[in-house]
Amino acid sequence: KVLVLDFGGQYNQLIARRVRDHHVYAEIKQYTTDIEEIKAENYKGIIFTGGPNSVYDMSSPHYSKEILELGIPVLGICYGCQLITWMCDGKVESAINSEYGKIQIDISKSDSKLFKDVPKENIVWMSHTDYVSEIPKGFEVTASSKDCPCAAFENVDKNLYAVQFHPEVTHSEYGNVILKNFLYDVCHCSGDWQMDSFIDNTVNALREKIGDKKVVLGLSGGVDSSVAAALLSKAVGKQLTCVFVDQGLMRKNEGDFVEETFTKLFDMNFVRVNCGHEFISKLKGATDPEDKRKIIGTEFYKVFWDKIREEADGGFFAQGTIYPDCIESGKGNADKIKTHHNKVAMPEDIKFDDVVEPLCDLFKDEVRVVGEKLGIPKELVWRQPFPGPGLGVRIIGEITEEKIKILQDADAVFRDEIAKSGIAQDLSQFFCVLPDVRTVGVMGDHRTYDHLVAIRAVTTDDFMTADFARIPYDVLARVSNRIVNECEHINRVVYDITSKPPGTIEWE
Ligand code: XMP
Repeated sequence: KVLVLDFGGQYNQLIARRVRDHHVYAEIKQYTTDIEEIKAENYKGIIFTGGPNSVYDMSSPHYSKEILELGIPVLGICYGCQLITWMCDGKVESAINSEYGKIQIDISKSDSKLFKDVPKENIVWMSHTDYVSEIPKGFEVTASSKDCPCAAFENVDKNLYAVQFHPEVTHSEYGNVILKNFLYDVCHCSGDWQMDSFIDNTVNALREKIGDKKVVLGLSGGVDSSVAAALLSKAVGKQLTCVFVDQGLMRKNEGDFVEETFTKLFDMNFVRVNCGHEFISKLKGATDPEDKRKIIGTEFYKVFWDKIREEADGGFFAQGTIYPDCIESGKGNADKIKTHHNKVAMPEDIKFDDVVEPLCDLFKDEVRVVGEKLGIPKELVWRQPFPGPGLGVRIIGEITEEKIKILQDADAVFRDEIAKSGIAQDLSQFFCVLPDVRTVGVMGDHRTYDHLVAIRAVTTDDFMTADFARIPYDVLARVSNRIVNECEHINRVVYDITSKPPGTIEWE
């Protein structure tokens, strides 16, 4: 396996994912990790990530030079490249012009292992202001760009490699080849990180850990908990109990679909708690988005923990936590920020022997591959993100059972038309919203006064920013036609053409 030592750059998870694409297991650790911990792991290679700081600023993240003397190959990327320079007494300076974007580099050392199968002139992604003005003694420049005389350099004897550009982003045309060369030609990795062996190993480890005890898992119907359920089912069958809380805010027929999938395809005890009516009564009168979210969240966990309490009998509590939920990433200076944490604290009176998190080493795309291999239907494995509060954030104003039904019907038509039009894979997320607005319409000879429904569809890589999707007019026309004709209480359809920012993807 390979270590990605995190110095606070924005692409750190991407580096680990790219390494894993080459069937080499990569894990991310903070630059604050003790050297003894690193020594104990027998890494085949270490990658220093980028980062927003300047190496000559003493408060920036640094690392003991000892790490370069362990005999483990090191690849420094961007800040990591400057850090190697600084650690080995080369010179890093601030440039007058930042280099940003797609830049051509020229490879000057044709037999560099790092650039095997890479054309002499190729395009890479640069993003830096500081630059290496003098490489350390013992190193040799292997590539340069117009503004960056030392775009890549290496010390073959010490197995140290440095690149100023970002091989992990797709804008670097041969980035993938460069990473592969580092992993296989420099680090001599064996490439045995495969999802089939992950499944076998995990199932065996789960069997060993769980023994003949019981294990309880909260199933949301989302990708992660579904795949965790399938893995646990394969490992321990009926010793697994899945608790599925249906708060009545899922998409049309989705609760039934989840129940059917897991009771028919997998061996387990499936416990469904239907509490839609209770949720609606708790939500009565609530119109403020934050109030609604709070009520839904509080109620959900109340029902959920009550059920878990009933099922808990020592044994294990399982969670579908995935790798990005677990990594702490250093953003900015030395501050440690937990970027994301899906874990919710368990009430103290619930007693389990231990927690199991079978997916805690996997990225989302790996989770999906495992899910497919375990036989989970494609529509579940490739499900779009669905907010925890469900349709609750897509009904503006007070939530009623009638409004939920109207929205579910319209949303089902929209999804059906998108599936039929074959453009689903071009959209990152799409759904309907019920804005609680009524407008006048005409149907036959009658005047109508009924609901307006909004359709929302976005394209995005990371859901932090997004653009509205350019759905073809003829598809929009069919969606609109069908919704007003087939769904009761809707007489108008509008299309949300706001990007994020300034809009958010959801309306509440
Ligand atoms: P926004 O609306 O903030 O949404 O642009 C970004 C992404 O997050 C999803 N989302 C949520 N997911 N719990 C979740 O698990 C929530 O409360 C929640 N709110 C928004 C949203 O669907 C989109 O994919």
